[in-house]
Amino acid sequence: MSLKNCHNFEDFRKLAKKKLPSPIFHYIDGGADDESTLRRNTDSFNDCDLVPNILASVGNPDLSTTLFGRKIDMPIFLSPAAMQRLYHHEGDIASARAADKFGTFYSMSSMGNNTIEEVSNISSGPKLFQLYVHKDRSISDDLIERSRRSGFDAMCLTVDTLVAGNRERDHRSGFTTPPKLTLKSLMSFVMRPEWVFNYLTHKKFELSNVAKKTDKGTNIAKSVMEYINEQYDPTMSWKDAEYCVKKWNGPFALKGVMSVDDAKRAIDIGCTAIMISNHGGRQLDGSRSPFDQVKAISDVVGDKLEIILDGGVRRGTHVLKALAAGAKACSFGKMFLFSLAAGGQKGVEKLLHNMQDEIRRNMVLMGCKTLKEIDASKIIYRK
Ligand code: LAC
Repeated sequence: MSLKNCHNFEDFRKLAKKKLPSPIFHYIDGGADDESTLRRNTDSFNDCDLVPNILASVGNPDLSTTLFGRKIDMPIFLSPAAMQRLYHHEGDIASARAADKFGTFYSMSSMGNNTIEEVSNISSGPKLFQLYVHKDRSISDDLIERSRRSGFDAMCLTVDTLVAGNRERDHRSGFTTPPKLTLKSLMSFVMRPEWVFNYLTHKKFELSNVAKKTDKGTNIAKSVMEYINEQYDPTMSWKDAEYCVKKWNGPFALKGVMSVDDAKRAIDIGCTAIMISNHGGRQLDGSRSPFDQVKAISDVVGDKLEIILDGGVRRGTHVLKALAAGAKACSFGKMFLFSLAAGGQKGVEKLLHNMQDEIRRNMVLMGCKTLKEIDASKIIYRK
């Protein structure tokens, strides 16, 4: 099994599983509680069908669009994801370079292992910063200011993680940040010597953007659930979100919006975008899937907000369905983290190449020259 043979999500997942110590693989792969939302996120794309138009003389379709004020070459991008250094020793640098090469957004997590400044030095491509409101507000303020100074294009505030979801795979594996060798996890690391070698011989693991403000997660090992519950403010409110929107004063998305009312309220506080997301099924199990909800939200606010669908996307056809239902773009986390683990920058490039290819081919088969043509007339819901 090699990158060359990675044709789809499952291929990247299998290769990542071979390369990663199992607690790290299961941290990405898993969801909350019974993982029913995690499964539904992808399954929901199967409850509708695309309806192609024939003889449209498409030729070479145009996949470009604009998002957060930047032109991007295709309607997909990399979701923010924590601790990318665990999946490949180059961490965020590898993903940022790959996204830049494909002319689309890379996103940096508040829990990244590279600094905002490091990434802005190696990429002039589109960049989104993902913010958490910390109990220590000076941390969140600092992240906003540094993102602005470093030329990030946009900010998203995650609003679905006031407390950590119940990730039972992590309970079982004892996964922590930074990873801790315990008697229980020893074998899983011993079986992945290449990972251990790369981990030990490259830049020290730290939560780089917050390491100066807190030792937790950098020098003090914590489970991710403990980290979230200690650091993030469970009383975060609309007032806090509005404060961040004003402080950033540029393209801004709430990430984790699921209801039509909350989408309307996002407009009221000055957001330019929303990410319809349930955090990849890692938070509220039993939550509706982004695809099941995108049409209802888009029908009401689609002309006032850029709508991003985040969750469950595995195929080019999923992206087309999301666009037909009213999204402007899609992002994905798990799929890209598996590609990062599978092959670093080259792995992410292979995934973006596959997705670009799928979207292009499917547009031709759909009879669509531009993304705008992928509208409500191109999709039928089965029930
Ligand atoms: C997670 C957080 C850190 O899902 O985004 O693990």
